[in-house]
Amino acid sequence: MTENLISIAYDRPDAEQKSCGTAHAWAKIPREPDPEEKAELIARIKRLLKEQDAVLVSHYYVHPDLQDLAEETGGIVSDSLDMASFGHQHPAKTIVVAGVRFMGETAKILNPEKRILMPDLEAECSLDLACPANEFIPFCDAHPDRTVVVYANTSAEVKARADWVVTSSIALPVAKHLKEQGKKILWAPDRHLGNYVQEQTGADMLLWRGSCIVHDEYKALELQELKAQHHGALVLVHPESPRAVVKLADAVGSTTQLIRAAQSSDAREFIVATDNGILHKMRTLCPDKTFLEAPTAGHGANCTSCSHCPWMAMNGLLNLAEVLERGNNEIYVDPAIIPRAVLPIQRMLDFARQLNLPTRGIGNA
Ligand code: 13P
Ligand code: SF4
Repeated sequence: MTENLISIAYDRPDAEQKSCGTAHAWAKIPREPDPEEKAELIARIKRLLKEQDAVLVSHYYVHPDLQDLAEETGGIVSDSLDMASFGHQHPAKTIVVAGVRFMGETAKILNPEKRILMPDLEAECSLDLACPANEFIPFCDAHPDRTVVVYANTSAEVKARADWVVTSSIALPVAKHLKEQGKKILWAPDRHLGNYVQEQTGADMLLWRGSCIVHDEYKALELQELKAQHHGALVLVHPESPRAVVKLADAVGSTTQLIRAAQSSDAREFIVATDNGILHKMRTLCPDKTFLEAPTAGHGANCTSCSHCPWMAMNGLLNLAEVLERGNNEIYVDPAIIPRAVLPIQRMLDFARQLNLPTRGIGNA
């Protein structure tokens, strides 16, 4: 398998200090409003959404206030696949994406005629950053015999070079489908998800070597220890986690799939290896069950990670209200790229429809 890997180093700005290399993102996290200000902000945002014919689409990893607000105002809180498909089907003229930039760009590619706003345009993703188009495109050109499958966590330019876009909820069926057609896959950018898909499907896959800075930090040894202390607890793991962690899982899946697993299981206790933003929805839907965070900073860890994405954390009530008021932070995607980038995304959405994969998040009426 080693010859099937290309190593692209991710530039962590303060790697020398051996701490979490995302200080610049943490520094931009909106302050927490006090209860009175919060009530006023929520009322203002609700009014502005209506006035501007806008719908709020939030990811499970963003602040609970933004998840609740999306549902209360007729929007959605969901995983990456549902976010893309919901925004595409919704008639609102403006889509406000509370998540990270690739989600805003996907919305723009699918809806070029709509205005797409985000609370902070600097909300990045380490997977997207680790797969620059100027390195990825020549890599694809060097392997013309392979079908290019990219994770949704990529730039518009990278998507435009792909045959398929996938999210974690549809990666396995797409790889299985391509294998059945005798196709060899070039996969980018998440090496852990790629490994998992390869192991599950037996597909021939050439992997790019990116990773998610949040999921990369889960530690198998410490997870095993925690599991031993909580007899009967089920382990829920997102497949962006390292292989040793995935191996300990009772359920592996996208954020929506993990929430469904928690809902449908008879177990009373769960250890969750994915961004802790998801715990809000899990606890709301399963108030009688206990959810523990999977351990991150273990023996040998070189930073005290916190199981939360700093870029997702850049979304808050304050900058959401501001963006609706000022109309700033509009997502721009080069119109020359859109016609090509839309094809692999649309292919994924059509395939999801064929498979009857749900296209609305959990708890959204
Ligand atoms: P899903 O919500 O599609 O599982 O993706 C997780 C993620 O990495 C979002 O950044
Ligand atoms: Fe990217 Fe990981 Fe943050 Fe998701 S949680 S946006 S994959 S860095």
